[in-house]
Order: sequence, then structure tokens, then C-alpha cells
Amino acid sequence: MKIIICMGSSCLLRGAYQVTKRFNELISEYRIHEDEVKLEGGYCNGICSSDGVSVNINGELIHDVTVDNVDGIFKEKVLRKLKYSDLYIH
Ligand code: FES
Repeated sequence: MKIIICMGSSCLLRGAYQVTKRFNELISEYRIHEDEVKLEGGYCNGICSSDGVSVNINGELIHDVTVDNVDGIFKEKVLRKLKYSDLYIH
């Protein structure tokens, strides 16, 4: 699975570094192996928003990602799609 966080200027202004940091923390907290989830920075996705960062998770573009909603997005879009995710979701 690949997570590409937009590092375009609009998303940088709206917290791309903080969102990236939180994704890294979540990957570490859930002890997800680096072979299972790759985290990368990417170019503008063309869906710049005033409310957050755009993130591409395995080809699905998600907009308005912030440090406040990234945990829920991670659980829904990442953990649920990993084969052993049921162990993690409470
Ligand atoms: S700068 Fe991130 S979608 Fe445009």
C-alpha cells in the first residue's frame, strides 16, 4: 500500500508536514512493517483545499486531511485494508 501526501505549496501551508508526522507515528504505533505501507511526498493533486491536505491512499484521493482527522482516515483507509487489520480496530 502506498500513501502519497501532497507537498504542494497549498498543502504545505495547510499542515502537510504535521499530517506526515502523524502518519509516521500511526505506522509506528500499529507496528506496520515498511513493506506493507510506504509513505511518500508528492506533487499537487489539483484538489487544493482551504481545509486541509490532499492524500492519495492506494490511488484514492482524499482531501481536507488534518491532524484532527488523520487518525480516523488511517483506520478506515489503511488499517481496514491490511489483512490483519481486524486485530487493530477497536
Ligand atoms: S497543493 Fe496539494 S492538492 Fe494542490
